[in-house]
Amino acid sequence: MGFDAVEIISIKRDRGELSTPQIDWVIDAYTKGDVADEQMSALAMAILLNGMNRREIADWTQAMIRSGERMDWSVLDRPTADKHSTGGVGDKITLPLAPLVAACGAYVPQLSGRGLGHTGGTLDKLESIPGWRANLSNDEMLGVIRASGAVVCAAGTGLAPADKKLYALRDVTGTVESIPLIASSIMSKKIAEGTGSLVLDVKVGSGAFMKNVDSARELATTMVALGTDAGVRTVALLTAMDRPLGLKIGNALEVAESLEVLAGGGPADVVELTLRLAREMLAAAGISGKDPEQALKDGSAMDAWRRMITAQGGDPDGVLPQAAESMTVNAPASGVLSRLDAYGVGVAAWRLGAGRARKEDPVSFGAGITLHAKPGDVVREGRPLMTLHADETARFDRALQSLDGAYEVTAAGDPGLLPLVIDRIEA
Ligand code: URA
Repeated sequence: MGFDAVEIISIKRDRGELSTPQIDWVIDAYTKGDVADEQMSALAMAILLNGMNRREIADWTQAMIRSGERMDWSVLDRPTADKHSTGGVGDKITLPLAPLVAACGAYVPQLSGRGLGHTGGTLDKLESIPGWRANLSNDEMLGVIRASGAVVCAAGTGLAPADKKLYALRDVTGTVESIPLIASSIMSKKIAEGTGSLVLDVKVGSGAFMKNVDSARELATTMVALGTDAGVRTVALLTAMDRPLGLKIGNALEVAESLEVLAGGGPADVVELTLRLAREMLAAAGISGKDPEQALKDGSAMDAWRRMITAQGGDPDGVLPQAAESMTVNAPASGVLSRLDAYGVGVAAWRLGAGRARKEDPVSFGAGITLHAKPGDVVREGRPLMTLHADETARFDRALQSLDGAYEVTAAGDPGLLPLVIDRIEA
């Protein structure tokens, strides 16, 4: 059935409800180029301002899934489990998590993205490993997952092409921050990816899309319902992103920190979240009797990592790139580090070269920040608080500007942080 794009835009502009055929038509026509970018941006803005109900979001998600291929892992002889994070600063959890869960008996097919803005992207991090390849054919993905239990790679162009086109449009039209559009964008890709179970890590705080717990809970609840209705066992955790995760922010730096975790060490918050997510993934996949903590200690997770990196052309023993220049930021006073704002630190790392301003920009693998203290730690005046890394010294000034006001040292007291895991949501 044919519809008129202007009529559909007007219904949403006037706070109306779109029917299933109207949604199917507009997504299909946009993917084919019959609905113009300017019409879809007007519709996206109307959705951002006026919302969509649950039925509309489910229809929108299904229409985006149908715009492309749906992957199928039924040839594999073990359950599949995946994790998706809504993105944050220092969030390298996929790197230790995927091989860890593989070592405990699930297959982990993970299609990941690149960083844009102040949040890093898993593919950029892994590409700092010499030789590692993000782009695999479906057959290559199957080969890697059979060899190592896990594959982390770029989504092919055939997966939810409607979302690819719409996400690029939203990015330049101020329409990213809409719960219906974020939920349908993420879940269309995850459902099309074909995983049997999914754990969502919905970040909350200044460094995340969702700045407060209520909006994160709404996003998580919407995504869990979409996954469950599509037959994917889906659970969400709301986790803290008011401060950075771990001590290292930046591509190769985060690979190095992930290797510490896989070797049985690493910062407490990264280890705790990795283990919590691993347990959730294994439970969602119906796998019991394997202890992820043991798999970190006995080296089996590290073995799975080495197989996964090697199977994607990477050298697990390759030397990670390092930035040419560094600069230390010292504590301005003695006391307790009472605040270290995730957004300020994320923007600083981005300005140092760890992130990109436009999709086509390259990233600097070695650039980023090493933290020497986290909120709640005692610091001494004049002692290092963090080290900035960049390929050119000219980048330090702009990074320092974004750190201005992003941290605070006070005489004593409770930093009032969000708990690392704030809530758990299931259908
Ligand atoms: N990540 C996505 O894939 N889509 C969004 O809309 C936001 C974050």
